[in-house]
Amino acid sequence: MHSKILTLMVAVTVLAGCKKVEQGGVGAVTTQEFGKTEKGEVVNLYTLRNRNGVEIAIINYGARVVTLKTPDARGRLADIALGFDSLKGYEGPNPYFGAIVGRYGNRIAKGKFTLDGKEYTLAKNNGENSLHGGLVGFDRVIWSGKTEESNGVQKAIFSYTSKDGEEGYPGTLNVTVTYSLGNNDDVQIDYHATTDKATVLNVTNHTYFNLAGQGNGDILNQVMQLNADRFTPVDAGLIPTGELKDVTGTPFDFRKPTVIGSRIGDKDEQLTLGKGYDHNYVLNRSGSGLVMAAKAVDPPSGRALEVWTTEPAVQFYTGNFLDGTVVGKNANNYAQRTGFCLETQHYPDSPNHPDFPTTVLKPGEEYKTTTVWKLRFVDPAK
Ligand code: BGC
Repeated sequence: MHSKILTLMVAVTVLAGCKKVEQGGVGAVTTQEFGKTEKGEVVNLYTLRNRNGVEIAIINYGARVVTLKTPDARGRLADIALGFDSLKGYEGPNPYFGAIVGRYGNRIAKGKFTLDGKEYTLAKNNGENSLHGGLVGFDRVIWSGKTEESNGVQKAIFSYTSKDGEEGYPGTLNVTVTYSLGNNDDVQIDYHATTDKATVLNVTNHTYFNLAGQGNGDILNQVMQLNADRFTPVDAGLIPTGELKDVTGTPFDFRKPTVIGSRIGDKDEQLTLGKGYDHNYVLNRSGSGLVMAAKAVDPPSGRALEVWTTEPAVQFYTGNFLDGTVVGKNANNYAQRTGFCLETQHYPDSPNHPDFPTTVLKPGEEYKTTTVWKLRFVDPAK
């Protein structure tokens, strides 16, 4: 027993040591031009780097995460976020790589909802539904960006004012998203918003992760754990039916670490609807603080990601609609299931489901949510 503990301690020291020696480097926050939009607007790249070499870079077009570098157990860095080398890629057709999505992350059925007796009609961009904010959502607007640094924590802060009626949503909305990186290798994302008229809001980040490194094959052999006893089944248009279904005995049970691809071939109606996982998981929680939503590991490298959130749910999406037509960083074409998303959120279509936790924001209230990505590593598989 004693010697086992000793071996473990030595191993941990060696892992930590490798990381330090190979990464070195001093934390830094930098701002540089990333490119110009087709309309000629300058877009900047804000890079936060801690003393362990962990790096997150965000552009103020869509407040998108364009780089997320993190070491594995041997200290080797990889960029685990799918994306593009230049602004042109982000401006072109792509499924929300790295983006902040809003006003309403995920779908609102038939692009309609009623609030205080008034019906609102939204821009439809997903069959008959409205997805991720509509035609020009938060992912395709220019945010104002700035950086701050204090006590070893670096921040990139993005603000945007969404006009009353934008994409059909009521109220002038002031929204701020802050990405912070500390030397503990946690990326914290804080969302804040206020409105001058009652509206609905559900803002999240749509990064596609591949813990083996973007461009390094699919994510089917990576291991996922989700802290959820229930999920919200969907209809053919991926709109929740309203049921909160127990995951027990279904391919949706990720309460124990499970290989992502192990059940994707199952002929479960819910799985085939989304061509894989594309479902909202209801998080187990008591109270409203941060809870662990998900933990993912890439066994060969040991790279791991924990997602913690104040939100009630997480959309686990296995990149089912990626089809190799999008050419990303280093000319990698992103084929089906080469990245997964963990979008912390309120349930899809909540404005049309009075039983779901509310997404209404009223004047005088503050919208405040936090999600943390804990970038970690474990002993790699032998
Ligand atoms: C949705 C998917 C959609 C993807 C990209 C996810 O959040 O749940 O259905 O295809 O985003 O738009």
